Amino acid sequence: MVQMLSLLDRQAAERAEHAARRVLGAGGLVAMPTETVYGLFADASDPQAVARIFAAKGRPRFNPLIAHVDGVAMAEAQGALDATARRLADWFWPGPLTLVVPRAAQGTVCDLARAGLDSVALRVPRSGVVRRLARDLGRPLAGPSANRSGRVSPTLAAHVAADLGEAVDLILDGGPCPVGVESTVLACLSGAPRLLRPGGIPAEEIEAVLGVRLLRETDGNRPASPGQLASHYAPRAGLRLDAREVHPGEALLAFGAPLDGAEEARAVENLSPTGDLLQAAARLYGALRRLDESGAAMIAAMPIPRDGLGEAINDRLARAAAPRPKEDAAQAAR
Ligand code: TXA
Ligand code: MG
Repeated sequence: MVQMLSLLDRQAAERAEHAARRVLGAGGLVAMPTETVYGLFADASDPQAVARIFAAKGRPRFNPLIAHVDGVAMAEAQGALDATARRLADWFWPGPLTLVVPRAAQGTVCDLARAGLDSVALRVPRSGVVRRLARDLGRPLAGPSANRSGRVSPTLAAHVAADLGEAVDLILDGGPCPVGVESTVLACLSGAPRLLRPGGIPAEEIEAVLGVRLLRETDGNRPASPGQLASHYAPRAGLRLDAREVHPGEALLAFGAPLDGAEEARAVENLSPTGDLLQAAARLYGALRRLDESGAAMIAAMPIPRDGLGEAINDRLARAAAPRPKEDAAQAAR
């Protein structure tokens, strides 16, 4: 069994943080909650530790990792924040916004963590534990979501244990993640800022701060963010989008008032009976996992509005519904 320590009471949390500091300092892997999802963290400047992250997740090496820092100063040691990036950092950090910026010549985030790119993805999470660990280590922490590559992201410690198990040295259990979808990833490279991944900070909020409309990725075949592959965030079951009825044998992912015939579904999870997108985001990944456990081969997902956090929710559902790579399809059938 992988070691799991609680962050839920103060004394235990101190011990857990101490243990995490030791593991990270020794080049190990620690899974910890952030406001978005659980991340799988390691010293971003240690190529061997970072290689273990890729191996644990089964993640393709062309897909770079986010470097988590304790604040703007550590961010600026790793990358060049232009006026736009600086403004967003001041406004939204700590919080679910990742800024992709040109890397600094003296930056220590290793090549493998950046997948060899000249840019670096930086984020200051709300989690005090993650920020203190980066500060104490004196270096950024690389941290992808703590799931097998392509699968549903974890919002509970138990999800991490089920997905990655022994591949992790230590899991810190801080309970459920309040935001529930990953950070918004925004490229501030040259020209106008580009939305690479919708996420926990709605694009409209960023646009309101900047007073400009964000460019969006439209060419799905050549993602500018290497992680935005068509199939991702996928449960084992198939997903049918914009469902207006439940077919025999299907499980139902509901939003708002359930569909007629919902009682016929193999299992039902309602993301938010009152139609609240914040609540729906927080529940999304847990609900997908539970519907998967029902054994249904197909999940019917009701339509969800696209404003606010709805953009991130719809992005994840579209990718979960996308055709899977062959190997995944074989696994899903098992
Ligand atoms: O909320 C989150 O962002 C979580 C928590 C743990 O912080 N982390 C997370 O990491 O979602 P991950 O690895 O699952 O997703 C990171 C995304 C990927 O789509 C990756 O391709 C993109 O960020 N990314 C990282 N570095 C990049 C870069 N230099 N240029 C473009 N995209 C980059
Ligand atoms: Mg991920």
